[in-house]
Amino acid sequence: MTNALITGWGMYAPSRIMSNHDLEKLVDTSDEWIVTRTGIRERRIAADDETTTTLSVNAARDALAVAGMSPDELDLVIVGTCTPDYYMPATAVLVAHELGATRAAGFDLMAACSGFVFSLATATAYVRSGMYRNVLVVGVEVLSRFLDYTDRNTCVLFGDGAGAVIVSASDQPGGLLGLDMYSDGSGKEGIIFPAGGAACPTTPKTIAEGGHFVHMAGKEVYKYATRQLAESARAALRDAGLSVDDVDQFLFHQANLRIIESVQHAVGIPADKTYLNIAKYGNTSAASVPMALVEAIAAGRIAPGDRLLMAAFGAGFTAGAAVLEWTADPARALLAPGEQTRMGQPRTESVEAAA
Ligand code: ACO
Repeated sequence: MTNALITGWGMYAPSRIMSNHDLEKLVDTSDEWIVTRTGIRERRIAADDETTTTLSVNAARDALAVAGMSPDELDLVIVGTCTPDYYMPATAVLVAHELGATRAAGFDLMAACSGFVFSLATATAYVRSGMYRNVLVVGVEVLSRFLDYTDRNTCVLFGDGAGAVIVSASDQPGGLLGLDMYSDGSGKEGIIFPAGGAACPTTPKTIAEGGHFVHMAGKEVYKYATRQLAESARAALRDAGLSVDDVDQFLFHQANLRIIESVQHAVGIPADKTYLNIAKYGNTSAASVPMALVEAIAAGRIAPGDRLLMAAFGAGFTAGAAVLEWTADPARALLAPGEQTRMGQPRTESVEAAA
């Protein structure tokens, strides 16, 4: 059987930084409240001329460079996002066009914060079936455009970013070992853009009421997320026939530090095996797992033969967990001078308001 392996990776975080202190000037909140309740210290905010497409393209170019692949070798582009540039056309089509991926089909995959894990599983299925050889998978969000910066319940939580991987056909072992994908539409009201879709089209009234912004029932989501993330992580391990002790690195969706700690406790995961970057980026939804992956590789925390567990939870509700055996040489990222992942960007400006 043809196998599917990750051969390239990249990420992009906008250079504009919004700190908790910046938010103190916008809403009735405090750095202390945000840090103790969420672990978030700052988040990145897309510049006015940046879009979901441009963030994706930046991450994808690095992923292609690391894979040593030209865009016209791509067969398919999957963009996991809940903040596409347009409802129509799909952002993936625009990303393929910008990259010069002239042969690639493209579609968006909507599973909110679980979007990257769902997209990675989808790409793996296409490659293992023999239908496609090279698939670009992007997890990306520009959530700052969908936040009400007068609502302290939501605006402090989210940020913008993108992460991308190339999934390619191979006759070598490794890649996806176990998977759990979960959906429960009874959680519809938990995290939602209430208006702007077919169920509640945009009108002056929906705009006045802020129906196009993220609305979240934080407490309910918190309880569900802690339970389901642990369930999905266990289910993916069962599917892989592995135990927690067999995993070298845990890459959780970075929504809330307390959620991650609670899952670590429930599943018995050592804290030093969990990569954390929530303090820098906040909740970047579908971008958070691939950004954590790229940073963990760059930090020297992932080596060939390592087993990774990725797990995410988001609106829907959805949850996804994947156990992977890593196969690529992390040093490959260094083979593309000037094209490496854009981590640790210098602080260029501090924004007081994104809206
Ligand atoms: N600053 C100060 N106070 C605040 C803020 C803020 N930014 N936001 C809320 N508060 C207040 C509330 O109004 C409340 O006040 P009250 O008691 O007078 O009513 C108080 O703080 C406590 O609120 P809680 O809801 O109890 O706070 P909690 O400890 O639950 O933390 C949080 C809230 C951080 C939102 C948490 O519930 C959470 O992380 N939920 C899950 C979010 C998540 O995981 N999302 C994932 C998916 S996102 C996606 O799919 C796109």
